[in-house]
Amino acid sequence: MRMGILTGGGDCPGLNAVIRAATKTLLSKGVEVWGFKDGYRGIYLRDCQLLDRAAVSGLLHRGGTILGSNNRDNPFRFPVRAASGEIEYRDISAILVESMNSLQLQCLIAIGGDGTLSIANELCSRGAAIVGVPKTIDNDLAATDQTFGFVTAVHTATEALDKLHTTAESHHRVMILEVMGRYAGWIALWCGMAGGADVILIPEIPWQIDRVVEKIRGRQLEGKLFSIIVVAEGTPAPGGKRVVREQIANSGDPLRLGGIGEVVRELVEQETGMESRVTVLGHIQRGGSPLTTDRILATRFGVAAAELAMEGRYGYMVALKGTQITAVPLKDATKPSNVHPDGQLVHAARAVGISFGD
Ligand code: F6P
Repeated sequence: MRMGILTGGGDCPGLNAVIRAATKTLLSKGVEVWGFKDGYRGIYLRDCQLLDRAAVSGLLHRGGTILGSNNRDNPFRFPVRAASGEIEYRDISAILVESMNSLQLQCLIAIGGDGTLSIANELCSRGAAIVGVPKTIDNDLAATDQTFGFVTAVHTATEALDKLHTTAESHHRVMILEVMGRYAGWIALWCGMAGGADVILIPEIPWQIDRVVEKIRGRQLEGKLFSIIVVAEGTPAPGGKRVVREQIANSGDPLRLGGIGEVVRELVEQETGMESRVTVLGHIQRGGSPLTTDRILATRFGVAAAELAMEGRYGYMVALKGTQITAVPLKDATKPSNVHPDGQLVHAARAVGISFGD
């Protein structure tokens, strides 16, 4: 029996740990495992490598993905150079399904976020045999209680906040940290709580600059001459406009967010007269070794995905529900998970004095 694995979407710490766990589980059952390069592109180009024990050795702690990844390709509008030399966008889904069949893949394990997994779901409805593994640092998938990579990203952001604290204090400044997370405020909320932020701005809670200024002024009255603000990249500016860094045509995920930190900095300086600086943490959050909990979740997901594949439960993805790993339909992968503005986490943050600018 032969199976394939690919990683799609933005990378995140723990991908290699999933590849390792799934491969080891399959190898122990006598399955031949092939890793496809750079997401679905690898199937289209038949660009793959045999994953034997040596290939997955030493991967547990390694960030990134040995298979490469891609968050630009959309197999339903895939860029192909036509005979004329022009780039044309074609639906290559039938070619992907045909490739999987002719390569005699019993099943493909697709590790990815909502984009990769919704493509997997669509391909399943066209005859492909795929099981999914949810990944994203954003933790924004409702189908699973947590995604691996999230805790590592939060840890990186928390360390950044610890560092920003010391320099903020020295210079009596307002320091703003812009973190990733797409349209969800999970990374901002967690690192803000862990890193002792004074203000956390997230997409789920509309904010006003007056409320932020009130918090900064209140701290000044207590003799605290600096403040720390965390802002999630997907937080709209006051008035509701989202700040976008780049738009990518034909991508399954066309908007690249970024720039709200600078908007916050300008408003804070204008309204308080205090010197402010913004740090955009960016892809540092996606890099590096996974933390212990992410290694364990990734390993559990990898093993469970291999087992689903062996059982022939195609069209499902693994998920964490409470303390258990379960299987949920791939079609649920696109349901977003957002911070509940009235939930316990926000309640606890408010109780310790954190402002959400509302
Ligand atoms: O989904 C993961 C993520 O890191 C988001 O937090 C961020 O908005 C996006 O990917 C960045 O994508 P890119 O790597 O294309 O800049």
